[in-house]
Amino acid sequence: MKIGIVGAGFVGSAAAYAMVMRGVSTEIVLVDRNTDLAIAQAEDIHHATPFAYPISVNAGDYTALGDACVVVLSAGSNQKPGETRLELLERNAAVFGDIIPRVLEAAPGAILLVASNPVDVMTQVSLEIARRTSPDFPVGRVIGSGTVLDTARFRALLARHMGISPKSVHAHVLGEHGDSEVLHWSGADAGAMPVSAFADEIGRPLTDAVRAEIDQGVRGAAGKIIKGKGATWYGIGGGLARIVQAIYDDERAVMTCSVVNPEVAGVQNVALSLPRIVGLGGVLGTVYPRLDEQETAALARSAGILKEAVT
Ligand code: LAC
Repeated sequence: MKIGIVGAGFVGSAAAYAMVMRGVSTEIVLVDRNTDLAIAQAEDIHHATPFAYPISVNAGDYTALGDACVVVLSAGSNQKPGETRLELLERNAAVFGDIIPRVLEAAPGAILLVASNPVDVMTQVSLEIARRTSPDFPVGRVIGSGTVLDTARFRALLARHMGISPKSVHAHVLGEHGDSEVLHWSGADAGAMPVSAFADEIGRPLTDAVRAEIDQGVRGAAGKIIKGKGATWYGIGGGLARIVQAIYDDERAVMTCSVVNPEVAGVQNVALSLPRIVGLGGVLGTVYPRLDEQETAALARSAGILKEAVT
């Protein structure tokens, strides 16, 4: 099955590379208005296939996206140092208004996987654009990477504190992929017990200071990396490849990603991240998490910020 990627810059090419390394799909097509860039990225990634999996990686125009099961939308600008993700909105919404009709003309059955920031609002904008051509375009087929990367950061930092594998930590970040995101501490677990109990068990308690450090480490990760190298791409590239794999393999994996929700914490019609069941049809279902009072208020605040950004 074919995966399309529109936007062959840092994020799109990192996602393609991560898919090759994970053996996701049999064919990847890179599309970019800068065709030289798309060709160069495709060539470079194709040369890595002998070290990984025999996936055909090519550059093409929109017509080459035909039959793609997923099209990653990673075109547009990225955050400048000190710029919030929401400040990017105007620039990237205009780009998507041009791209999405061309993608759906070539691949009307594709799942759209939105990577460009502000990813939650861009997810909502993408659904609106898709519905201009197909009024009943399913909500679950417009997925934003959302907090899939924030959740990975949360798990990685918790695991590092406790000295265990991040694969043994289950912890989610909910809401906006941005400053108002919500670390779901009360639902985090390790070794089949609440993470706070596990940490006590192994003598690495989650003190208030440790929690604050992990919170800042997750919330401030992108800003810190952008200061150092101008953008992030490996983390999000890996997250996109993970979502594509769950779709491609019909895994029905539970992961935090963004789709338009009819109502979250009292806010109507807003795209943000909650635990989703992801498989061949896209987002197949949502699991509404059990939150404590503080987390519920924080999710409502996050939903409100996103609602304001999109109206
Ligand atoms: C980050 C970008 C993808 O969080 O928003 O690294």
